Amino acid sequence: MNKKISTDLIHAGKIRTEFMETSEPLFLTSGFVYNTAEEAEASFKEKKKRFLYSRFGNPTIEILQNKLAKLEGAEACWATSTGMAAVFTIFMSYLKKGDRVVAGRALFGSCHHILTSILPRFGIEVELIDGSDIESWEKALKKKTKLIFFETPSNPCLEIVDIENVVSLAKKQKTLVVVDNVFATPILQKPIEFGADVVMYSATKHIDGQGRVMGGAILGKKKYCDEIIKPFIRNTGPSISPFNAWVLIKGLDTLELRIKKQSENAKKVVNYLEKSEHIDKIYYPHYKNFNQFSLAKKQMKDGGNLLSFEIKAKKEKKKEKSFSFLNNLSLINISNNLGDTKSLITHPETTTHHRLSQMEKKVLGINKNLIRISVGLEDVDDIISDIDKALKKSMVNK
Ligand SMILES: Cc1ncc(COP(=O)(O)O)c(C=O)c1O
Repeated sequence: MNKKISTDLIHAGKIRTEFMETSEPLFLTSGFVYNTAEEAEASFKEKKKRFLYSRFGNPTIEILQNKLAKLEGAEACWATSTGMAAVFTIFMSYLKKGDRVVAGRALFGSCHHILTSILPRFGIEVELIDGSDIESWEKALKKKTKLIFFETPSNPCLEIVDIENVVSLAKKQKTLVVVDNVFATPILQKPIEFGADVVMYSATKHIDGQGRVMGGAILGKKKYCDEIIKPFIRNTGPSISPFNAWVLIKGLDTLELRIKKQSENAKKVVNYLEKSEHIDKIYYPHYKNFNQFSLAKKQMKDGGNLLSFEIKAKKEKKKEKSFSFLNNLSLINISNNLGDTKSLITHPETTTHHRLSQMEKKVLGINKNLIRISVGLEDVDDIISDIDKALKKSMVNK
């Protein structure tokens, strides 16, 4: 029976032990024992399917992987220790010297670092393009390309890539299409339904949703996961700890509820910002004046809990005003994390994206007056009142 997403979040992927526990069991063990040496031999030769060692697999991790695969509509999933471990595994397991990667240039700082500083050291060519422009994809894909990578919406300016159109270009030369779906979550956007091959998550974000543990996930076809991802993870060790997997399973129980409520709160914050005389620009996928509003509506069920905005300020005062705004907040916490139940705010130009060159920041719109907020689950009136007070205080001595 095909269950609704809310039911799957609670029940999918269950493995119950002989004790018939209601809550998913936590197997906090690194190893497993064999009754005989023959059993150990058969297990290593994969003639007998069982758990050998938690770097290779663990029942709690398997519950998480089964649940995530079901939610995403993917054939298989491998969980990793962090989102970056997932990104690095995807690249290093698939690419070799001489291969070419094309990526949307609106990227999270560490993804940008892997693409521009690490992959070229291994003889892998990387081209970064304007991911929102389909002609740029068309042009870049005229050259033989092994893998495409993009975030949609992107961090921090919520730039949207047209998944379906990029996939149709990629399929002409069997390029692997990898989507970083962190901002959208599996609740709001399913890249596999638009033809993407691989989806990755930083489970640290909304999947945990309560700021407790790190984790990542890679989702795709069973053949890809078995033949490419499994041997890489088993032998190089970016595996997730069973404890973190267990916390993430608990996070999934409430993922849909949180995303719905936090998106609702985010839209109310956008409504407030739109009317504020202190704000210049708003980036939010389901905001009617967002330049990619119709594409965002097509791809995403709702706008999500992340939004960015620019504070009005003279050129030489942009950073000062932004810092003053952040320092005057009393409820919303300054933090580069996101997807938490607590509202978190950051100044991307000096934190998450500080390593980008001035030129790259300019192209991506990461200006000194840009603020990114991950809207939480607090009462939205309190969130708005905190923003309002801090904006007014920061505008004294314009
Ligand atoms: C869009 C995006 N991708 C990947 C990551 C990396 O995830 P992690 O911090 O779990 O390694 C992040 C983290 O902020 C992110 O925002």
